[in-house]
Amino acid sequence: MDRALEQGAALSVAPPPDVELRSLVKRYGETLALDGVSLAVHAGEFFTLLGPSGCGKTTTLRAVAGFVEPSAGDVLIKGSRVNDVPAHRRRVGMVFQHYALFPHRTVFQNVAFGLRMAGVERAQLERRVGEALELVRLPAYGARYPRELSGGEQQRVALARALVTRPAVLLLDEPLGALDKQLRDHMQIELKSLQREVGITTIYVTHDQGEALTMSDRIAVMRDGRLEQIGPPRDIYESPRTVFVAGFIGTTNLLPVRVLTGTEVEWGRARVRTAAPAGGPGASVTLALRPERVRLEPDGRADNVVAAAVAHVVYQGETVRYVLRTEEGLELQAVEIGETRFAPGARVRAGWAADDARVLDG
Ligand SMILES: Nc1ncnc2c1ncn2[C@@H]1O[C@H](COP(=O)(O)OP(=O)(O)OP(=O)(O)O)[C@@H](O)[C@H]1O
Ligand SMILES: [Mg+2]
Repeated sequence: MDRALEQGAALSVAPPPDVELRSLVKRYGETLALDGVSLAVHAGEFFTLLGPSGCGKTTTLRAVAGFVEPSAGDVLIKGSRVNDVPAHRRRVGMVFQHYALFPHRTVFQNVAFGLRMAGVERAQLERRVGEALELVRLPAYGARYPRELSGGEQQRVALARALVTRPAVLLLDEPLGALDKQLRDHMQIELKSLQREVGITTIYVTHDQGEALTMSDRIAVMRDGRLEQIGPPRDIYESPRTVFVAGFIGTTNLLPVRVLTGTEVEWGRARVRTAAPAGGPGASVTLALRPERVRLEPDGRADNVVAAAVAHVVYQGETVRYVLRTEEGLELQAVEIGETRFAPGARVRAGWAADDARVLDG
């Protein structure tokens, strides 16, 4: 019995993550680009590094690919430490931030590049390039040159080039950054469904929070070479753990408040109730409140109601954003779906539920 249990336990041991970073540090002279990054990406996962310019996203990706040598810490791929394994033997495919297809080579030659380097023989090479181009839905484009393709098509060729060697892990560094909004939205969905179809473990880099929320299984928010929070999009959006994450993902009201007792705080002179204890009496904390949680002229009972005037109305197409100002001059934003209901100067009551606001330190 005991032995059977032991064997069962041994059999159910989870496989190692496809990519694991352990306390990764990268220094460039005085610059600390990575300051102890640890994370694990699992098989088939779409994992996104999200953060502002210069926070270390590309450096992280390049360390996984083997183009950046860590100053300290380990890179593991499928459970093996690869710090000393050269890039071309790591079984990763990468699409670079400022992608460059070889301009004087055809689409076919571009995609075939990695296979040719690996010495794959002609017939197999042709078949695999054909498959890769089919996968990115450009089967008839082999003879064209990059300049004869749209930006989105070039991006798909870059993707085919990264996939053709059948890497274990796909690394994408802002692959849609150069595209206009409409094409980017389209490519996001296409890229995501392609990733699902192939089932390839993917680390995706972007500084676009909407893109990260749309595409990812999990998001790691980076700041100054460190990971601020890791979690599924909903957690990152609904339950940011820091002021930085709350502020970086979407627009958030960050209300500076002072704790009165337990779940009651003071925002200016307004008393506001929170769902969780906000801290000791007198403590200064921040309430993060999504604008879409703020109801204007709430019917029924809202836990919190403040009187305010509409300062600005921003028409956004499907939604309307109201910038409100309380009598004390404190600002609060509310977003509603549908038609514009209030004009600048209108006096409104803004309400929200206690558990719609998150308490953040500082
Ligand atoms: N080769 C290098 N030499 C010196 N400093 C570098 C080098 N590469 C990156 N850095 C610095 O390391 C930090 C992280 O850079 P990284 O390229 O990883 O940022 P990023 O998050 O990808 O930014 P972006 O969104 O602008 O692409 C930055 O301060 C950058 O200036
Ligand atoms: Mg970058």
